[in-house]
Order: sequence, then structure tokens, then C-alpha cells
Amino acid sequence: MGITGMIYIVTMVFSLIVLILSSSTVGYDYFQFTQQYQPAVCRSNPTPCKDPTDKLFTVHGLWPSNFNGPHPANCTNATVNSHRIKNIQAQLKIIWPNVLDRTNHLGFWNKQWIKHGSCGNPPIMNDTHYFQTVINMYITQKQNVSEILSRAKIEPLGIQRPLVDIEKAIRNSINKKKPRFKCQNNGGVTELVEISLCSDRSLTQFRDCPHPFPPGSPYLCPADIQY
Ligand SMILES: *[C@@H]1O[C@H](CO)[C@@H](O)[C@H](O)[C@H]1NC(C)=O
Ligand SMILES: *[C@@H]1O[C@H](CO)[C@@H](O)[C@H](O)[C@H]1NC(C)=O
Ligand SMILES: *[C@@H]1O[C@H](CO)[C@@H](O)[C@H](O)[C@H]1NC(C)=O
Ligand SMILES: *[C@@H]1O[C@H](CO)[C@@H](O)[C@H](O)[C@H]1NC(C)=O
Repeated sequence: MGITGMIYIVTMVFSLIVLILSSSTVGYDYFQFTQQYQPAVCRSNPTPCKDPTDKLFTVHGLWPSNFNGPHPANCTNATVNSHRIKNIQAQLKIIWPNVLDRTNHLGFWNKQWIKHGSCGNPPIMNDTHYFQTVINMYITQKQNVSEILSRAKIEPLGIQRPLVDIEKAIRNSINKKKPRFKCQNNGGVTELVEISLCSDRSLTQFRDCPHPFPPGSPYLCPADIQY
């Protein structure tokens, strides 16, 4: 092979690498549908929540995510058109409340749309579609994690229990796929804060959630957790 051939191959390989790197920063591989346990969220906050919490997992966000490298973020600067979501606001307040500040639900929705939702196109077409998609997932598709656990007789009693029991209950309702858990230390005991359900990049089927937190992370759940 001559020098021209070498240059050709090197250029092609280099272009391919650039293409792969750039597509993985703007694109994404899968979606995480993350729900947060309200009492634990308030306990994690430096200032206490003003309003009482419900013992429920409600929506944190629907996040386009990557297997490796950074997740896409901030793909728009445009805030949510509150007029266009007027007729779904009542439902959103129930499933996606701003538990830290219930006077500012829209601020929470804006943050989630700008940081995460705007990067999920396709299949997420616009802000209204983002919120409607989450309503469909939580209510119509029965991805309400509190409901899934309750049906498996796992109620939020604030007691220590094996995480595998919770994992089993979730897996049974998401086609045996692996959920992702986030925990936090609460005065010496480790409590469950978040559960994520993962779907493929077109939001059509569940998939295993990849890489939980690395060993030593404070968010990693031990074998027994409080819920
Ligand atoms: C996205 O914007 C938020 C709010 O301005 C900022 O905190 C965050 O660092 C940004 N993330 C990226 C990856 O640019
Ligand atoms: C958002 O605004 C910042 C500052 O004006 C700008 O640099 C950035 O490119 C904008 N991002 C998008 C996605 O429009
Ligand atoms: C948002 O996307 C949905 C779904 O594709 C579409 O039906 C709707 O017309 C869009 N709304 C706006 C304001 O573009
Ligand atoms: C989610 O499930 C919990 C537990 O069954 C239930 O109390 C709550 O009303 C459900 N939320 C919605 C919006 O259906």
C-alpha cells in the first residue's frame, strides 16, 4: 500500500471516530424515567419542605441518557409555553409536583424540559408532548412505582427491608428488566430516594438500566434499605 492509501485510511478512521464522538454527545442511547420518594426528597434538602409530603413516588423526570459519557443536556433555552399545557396542568400537579416548593411547579417542569426533555427529539417533539408522554407513562401505562409496589404488598412503612424484594416487584411489571435505585443516608439508615425505569431510545420497550452508581458512591443502595 502506498502513502496515498495510508493517508486515505487514516483520514477515514479519524473521520469515523469524530462522527462517533459527536453523535454520542448530541444523541442518546436510552431513556430513564425517574420517580422520587417525596419524604426522602424533603429530607435530602438543606432547608425543610414547607408543605407536607405524600408517601408517594412522583415524577422527577424523563431523561434521555447515554451508556458512556455525558448525558445530553440543555438543548433549548425556550421555557415551557404555560398556555399550551393549561389543560394538563391539573394532572401534572398530581404526578409531577415540585415537592421542594409547591408554589412553583412550573419552575420544576421548566427545568426538566430545558435540561432533559428538549434533548429527547425524537421521539419527544416539543414541550407539550414531553409532559403528555410522561402522563401517559405514569398513568395509562401504569408505570406509577408506588402503585407497582403497593400491588406487590410493599407499602411505604418506613421500615428496613431487602432491596431485592423491591427489585423483584418492579421487574415483574417491566418485562423483567432491571431498574435503577438511588439511596441516601438518613441519620445512620440508608433510605430509598429514587427508582428509574429504563426504556429504549424510541420509548417503545423497557430495557435494563445500565451502570448503577460506582462502588463507594453515597447514592449506592446496600442490600437492606428503608422504605
Ligand atoms: C444546563 O443548564 C443548567 C442550568 O443553567 C446548568 O446548571 C447545567 O450545568 C447545564 N448542563 C450542561 C451539561 O450544560
Ligand atoms: C442558550 O443561550 C446561551 C446564551 O445565550 C447560548 O450560548 C446557547 O447556545 C443557547 N443554547 C441553545 C440550545 O439555544
Ligand atoms: C407537539 O408535538 C405533538 C406530537 O408530535 C403535535 O401533535 C403537536 O401539534 C405539537 N405542538 C406544537 C405546538 O408544535
Ligand atoms: C400512584 O399509586 C399510588 C399507590 O397506589 C396511588 O395512591 C396514587 O393515587 C397513584 N397515582 C396516580 C396518579 O394514579
